[in-house]
Amino acid sequence: MTPKPGPIERGGVARSFDAHARTYDKLVGSNPGYHAHLRLSAKRMGLPDRGRGLRLLDVGCGTGASTAALLDAAPEAEITAVDASAEMLAQAHRKTWPRTVRFVHGNAENLAMSGIVGPYDGILAAYLLRNLVHQDAALRQFHRLLRPGAPLAIHEYSVRDSIRSRIVWTTVCWGLIIPMARIQAGSTDLYRYLWRSALQFDGVKTLSERLASAGFEDIRVQTVPGWQQHIVHTFLGRRPADPAAAQAMTAEADVDPEAATPADGIEVTKPPA
Ligand SMILES: C[S@@+](CC[C@H](N)C(=O)[O-])C[C@H]1O[C@@H](n2cnc3c(N)ncnc32)[C@H](O)[C@@H]1O
Repeated sequence: MTPKPGPIERGGVARSFDAHARTYDKLVGSNPGYHAHLRLSAKRMGLPDRGRGLRLLDVGCGTGASTAALLDAAPEAEITAVDASAEMLAQAHRKTWPRTVRFVHGNAENLAMSGIVGPYDGILAAYLLRNLVHQDAALRQFHRLLRPGAPLAIHEYSVRDSIRSRIVWTTVCWGLIIPMARIQAGSTDLYRYLWRSALQFDGVKTLSERLASAGFEDIRVQTVPGWQQHIVHTFLGRRPADPAAAQAMTAEADVDPEAATPADGIEVTKPPA
């Protein structure tokens, strides 16, 4: 007798995405703001010059929605997009991409195994971190893969710090997302996991602190408009600039070093109580 599958766990999420890949785009497409919010997070990375000459990484790219957002923010960059689900990647491949975009099948917890060694001028991880088993190690890995001074954007659900956000999240999941998954995908396991995993994931303050512990600086958190306000956030951090290079630049520009010091601390968009 085949054992009944248990609830989805973090380590097995990519396999569950395999089973849901064909209906994923339709489901997220009916979520107002999904693509616009990804574009907002990619834009918030502040990538210069339409991305000309930059190498960017989209970790957990899925069917390519976040890849398209990066491309929108930096149309001239070279983009590597990686995902552990072969079926999600197959959906991404069905779309039209410029030759500067390449998709790689690999595990975000060990990117070097898939030949992803950097350095990158920016990394976007959209709706990925919550699903990883070793999240702090993954953040440290992203830090190592970035060039000094380059940005990381974590686009994620974070509702733990706010009762209101948890109530709205639970209402939308059980009132809309899970019933729609039942109709469109014929199964709700992945979307019940989505609800549960977001409730269990870090609050804004905790994730900001984890980014700082992983070595990121200039940490900022911004939310998005729509029903996802104070539910979906862009967590931005930067690998510190190489001190020698920063010093040379300061000397060259003859700038007061005090004025050149980035603002201290964590800037957080305070969620409603
Ligand atoms: C919710 S989807 C997000 C896809 C895309 N970033 C977007 O914004 O639409 C999460 C993706 O992370 C992938 N994923 C989960 N765990 C992973 C891992 N350990 N390594 C690589 N990809 C992983 C899943 O396969 C899935 O495609």
